[in-house]
Amino acid sequence: MTLNARNREARDRQDFQQTGVARVCQGRVPATMANRDELGKTVLTPGELIDTALHPDESTEPATGQGRFVWTETGYDRLTERDVTDIASMLQACSEGETELLFAQADQTRKRFVGDSVHIRGIIEFSNYCMRNCLYCGLRRDNHKLRRYRMTPDEILAASENGIRRGYRTIVLQSGEDLHYSTSDIARIVEGIKGLGDVAVTLSVGERARSEYATMKSAGADRFLLKHETADAELYRRLHPGRSLEMRIECLQNLKSLGFQVGSGFIVGLPGQDISTIARDIALLKLLDVDMAGIGPFIPHPDTPIALYPAGDVAMTLKALVVTRLALPHANLPVTTALATLRPDGRKLALSCGGNVIMPNITPAKYRKLYEIYPDSASLKDPEDGGIGEIALMLETMGRRISQTKGDSFRRKRR
Ligand code: 5AD
Ligand code: SF4
Repeated sequence: MTLNARNREARDRQDFQQTGVARVCQGRVPATMANRDELGKTVLTPGELIDTALHPDESTEPATGQGRFVWTETGYDRLTERDVTDIASMLQACSEGETELLFAQADQTRKRFVGDSVHIRGIIEFSNYCMRNCLYCGLRRDNHKLRRYRMTPDEILAASENGIRRGYRTIVLQSGEDLHYSTSDIARIVEGIKGLGDVAVTLSVGERARSEYATMKSAGADRFLLKHETADAELYRRLHPGRSLEMRIECLQNLKSLGFQVGSGFIVGLPGQDISTIARDIALLKLLDVDMAGIGPFIPHPDTPIALYPAGDVAMTLKALVVTRLALPHANLPVTTALATLRPDGRKLALSCGGNVIMPNITPAKYRKLYEIYPDSASLKDPEDGGIGEIALMLETMGRRISQTKGDSFRRKRR
């Protein structure tokens, strides 16, 4: 590691520790469960601002609108503080009876709105280069211990073809934020994959300009994943040096307005997060009206500035998934690899409390270990042939089955 990088990392760590973001606001919300069948029925009114600061009086945000969700122009619905409080009270449900009821409601809601089919998407992690420096991620720019790789367009197409041959009907192309691949490179790769068969292509390549997203859409990309990571603007700023939640949301809005099926999501257990933050995360998913949402626990990576913080709580991750299913009954909710990494039965667990998508890793074996967002990823165990046979068997034991469709957004079909 160069001296500069080491200094920067030390500064990031110090900056993070000194922020006092570890705020606890349990007790601010009632411990009772919200008296609703389904959050989807919440009455929403269009327009206005939502304050994202947990403690507005302590907020250090400049008066530029940063830290506030401003959606007046786009006409998104508005959730009130009351809605956020209701979500938080569900997340706080802690007696056995309360959580059992919530889990059962989420499973029923999943069955009613998106059915028993489980969509299978094959992920190809095509580059581990990243120009960003997210404090939690092993691919961060300043992690010089990591050996970097890039797959060539031909390698990406070969891996996609392999996945399609094995039965995948969605190919997800994921990478760090790597400008080595120009927008037209990505567009050509998307066109190539679309030429291989009747498949959907999902991109997960980070923040780019609207015009670049437009080029990717024109090339045939169907969906885009860009997690908002945390809906607390201050925490976002600390964890993503040089970036803001506002920029992230702008990208999500651009993607949405271009007609992508949009996936967002967040990390449970980030240092400095509390139940109220998670409630805002779910509220934000609802505000953005996402088609998909990935929710996974934080897993510390030893070569990051927040290596010493504990992993996210599996039970809280599941609860967040459950409440998200209730809040967004039509959404596609994948079982995250991070959850499966912390719990061997994570996939089954998540499928039984709201999840309806599995995203196995179909990256060529020689690259997998290098895509080390966090250590010991469960995806290292995904079989190279795509593992559809094993998944089908597992689903059968749960009375579920692999979907025969591309698994487009249920929300889209409804619109
Ligand atoms: N723990 C859990 N999830 C992580 N991600 C990155 N680093 C970690 C970590 N240490 C997730 C982020 C990102 C996705 C690619 O991986 O949510 O969007
Ligand atoms: Fe890069 Fe994404 Fe990791 Fe951030 S989370 S360092 S953008 S790969």
